[in-house]
Amino acid sequence: MLHPSHSFKQTWELILILVTTYASVEVPLRLVMGYPAEGWILYVDFLVITVFAVDIIVNFRTAILVDGRLVSDPRTVALKYLRGWFLIDFLAAVPFDLILIHSIGQPEADLARLISPTLLRALRMLRLIRLLRLVRLAQLLHRLGHRDLLNPAIMRLIFFGFWVSLIGHWVGCGWVAIGGVPDAPDGLTAYVRGIYWAFTTLTTVGYGDITPHTIHQTVYAIITMIVGAGMYGYIIGNVAHLLANIDVAKAHFRQKMENVNAFLRYRHIPGELQERIRNYYNYLWESRLGYDEFSFLKDLPRSLQMEVALSLNKDILERMPILKGAPPGLVREIVLNLTPQVFTPGDTIFHYGDPGREMYMISQGTVEVLGKSREHIATLADGQFFGEVALLFHAPRNATVKAIDYCDIYSLDRQTFEEILNRYPQFAESVREMAESRKGQVRSAD
Ligand code: CMP
Repeated sequence: MLHPSHSFKQTWELILILVTTYASVEVPLRLVMGYPAEGWILYVDFLVITVFAVDIIVNFRTAILVDGRLVSDPRTVALKYLRGWFLIDFLAAVPFDLILIHSIGQPEADLARLISPTLLRALRMLRLIRLLRLVRLAQLLHRLGHRDLLNPAIMRLIFFGFWVSLIGHWVGCGWVAIGGVPDAPDGLTAYVRGIYWAFTTLTTVGYGDITPHTIHQTVYAIITMIVGAGMYGYIIGNVAHLLANIDVAKAHFRQKMENVNAFLRYRHIPGELQERIRNYYNYLWESRLGYDEFSFLKDLPRSLQMEVALSLNKDILERMPILKGAPPGLVREIVLNLTPQVFTPGDTIFHYGDPGREMYMISQGTVEVLGKSREHIATLADGQFFGEVALLFHAPRNATVKAIDYCDIYSLDRQTFEEILNRYPQFAESVREMAESRKGQVRSAD
């Protein structure tokens, strides 16, 4: 049995989309233009039918998701398929028109002379059964939209254009079929005029140069106008929304900045502080497109949190010398409990003498360690940590730490830090060694 996300199945779905699109364009076109199925058109027809038939086999051989669980038992899959889409797929795969026309035993071009035009038309209409596949096309396009191929908003715009063109094509073909373009010299002109009528009517432009003459045409025009009015409203609303959201991250960030600016004005925050706040958001935008990793992770179940956190923080952990060769369990535990924080240049992360509630790991950026009388003690950068001394020795902070440039820092709270040290004595030993030597340096500086 095939897995639903197997690469073959994905390619197969693309082929199906192409073939179904071809069928939904060509079937009504041949009906109104009346050309016979000969030469390459006949071969393509066979190809379409073969693809639809093979798809029935593929469906019998593909595992399905039932209530979120993967079912690969062939009997259950077959039963589900037989009760669901099978009939539609089967009807679309049988070439009723070809069987009937060829069972008469004459080339299609000669049939016009043998049987009445109405009967010939009815035979050709049998091909419309193939359009049943369109129900499946909507489903396939929906699935394609969920694949990470393009920006989802652009993908939706493309689908939108696709459906609008297809609807225009059908409405135009229908108009020609009911004799809406009586004076056209040939099939192609009739088709182009039909499409022109369809789009002027659907988009509510309505030039009025092609008008209904019979009662059928009038009813058809009324229905098209009603469909067009609905479609037009839908298009305007959706396209505006899609265009505004092509860049989801940017739209989200713009909204956030509008709220921030409104708040800053409302509370009369001093100009210099406003500037720093804006700089902070600009940095968030440049470094992570304004996304907040923490709240994103919080929404996920714990098992997924772990995997996402590991993939997000892999870089910083690989860069930390203290974690070189650490057991995977330790790394996992640290990763899961890290809280990302951003500091802008000049921010004080904590002051000398503050109580210690967390330790910090620098993912990116530089901080300065300042002694009691603000003398320079050390500069720490990517992959280094600080704030461990107060936690280890249950003492107040023995130095002030300030951000020199924009810093991406991850903090680990006291309780988790202590639990980890208890569980991993070797790691505790290296942290303690480092803390002892730093404490010694601060003392000798005093
Ligand atoms: P803590 O005392 O919690 O807060 C201040 C931090 O500065 C301290 O932990 C250390 O992590 C860090 N620190 C102190 N002295 C030094 C030093 N000499 N070199 C590097 N970091 C230091």
